[in-house]
Amino acid sequence: MTEKELEELRSRALEELSGARDLKVLEELRVRYLGKRGLLTSILKTLKDLPPELRRTIGRRANEIKAELEGLVRQRREALLRAAEDEAPGVDLTLPGRPYELGRLHPITQVLQEICAIFLRLGFSVARGPEVETDYYNFEALNIPPDHPAREMQDTFYFPEGFLLRTHTSPIQIRTMLSRKPPLRIIAPGKVYRCDSDVRHTPMFHQVEGLLVDREVSFADLKGLLTYFAREIFGADTRVRFRPSYFPFTEPSAEMDIECVICKGGGCRLCGETGWLEILGAGMVHPHVFRAVGYDTEKWRGFAFGLGVERIAMLKFGIDDIRLFYENHLRFLEQF
Ligand code: PHE
Repeated sequence: MTEKELEELRSRALEELSGARDLKVLEELRVRYLGKRGLLTSILKTLKDLPPELRRTIGRRANEIKAELEGLVRQRREALLRAAEDEAPGVDLTLPGRPYELGRLHPITQVLQEICAIFLRLGFSVARGPEVETDYYNFEALNIPPDHPAREMQDTFYFPEGFLLRTHTSPIQIRTMLSRKPPLRIIAPGKVYRCDSDVRHTPMFHQVEGLLVDREVSFADLKGLLTYFAREIFGADTRVRFRPSYFPFTEPSAEMDIECVICKGGGCRLCGETGWLEILGAGMVHPHVFRAVGYDTEKWRGFAFGLGVERIAMLKFGIDDIRLFYENHLRFLEQF
């Protein structure tokens, strides 16, 4: 190290430090010249290898430069902080930042994913369909004749030219069977719409449809599957019962109840003193439906089910008003 090199280092450092336009650059420069392994610091560290007379002159000069640069860094830092303060007066740059709240999945999304995961583990795959449907897929192909009560204006949102918002996920059964050959095993999650609104109903809600078609399929398989499902979702000791019911697209049809999560069967307000809560509709695929999609009714049998996601979420979390899911109050949503 010669005196000339030392002076060059000094003028380069002075020039760069005076040009530092923000605190980050300033800090990088400080580290480059004055840090533990900085350019000037390493010179000071190697002084001992120089001949004594050089050591004295260079040593003194290097220490002067060090003090000068440290002074300049301090001065630049204060100037930059003052400039920031002028741009945003009253802002205290030393205050800690405000933490951001973490987002999370909506309770309905959580339950939907949990339901799907159970069936995916059992070899079902996910199918999807459009929310804007035609009368054919939503009703006709599902053996719902034109005069069936489910078609009445008060239940269905209609568009001009024969379009409507699907009232259930069952049209996905039809679309899947038309595009695939049996055997098949699908679940179809999605939004559905009904012209209905009170404590128990919102105009939009979610269903998960299930459809299994194979050669040897019985009602016992359906009961076994749905009982297993209820115990996965609500706990291993959950009791279930099947009641005869009616759907135009299944025969025979049933609804499945679980033991009331509040009174455990004793009878309370939630279950209307019955001790049971309905969570899904199901049945063996009706031959008219197989005919509509061109499946051979002699060869294939199937079962289908449709469950209400909001209903299951309410029972799981003990929520008594379905509208809470869609009001987007953070104090509600943050609990899940
Ligand atoms: N689609 C029926 C409903 O929305 C439920 C269901 C699906 C019933 C499949 C039987 C079979 O109520």
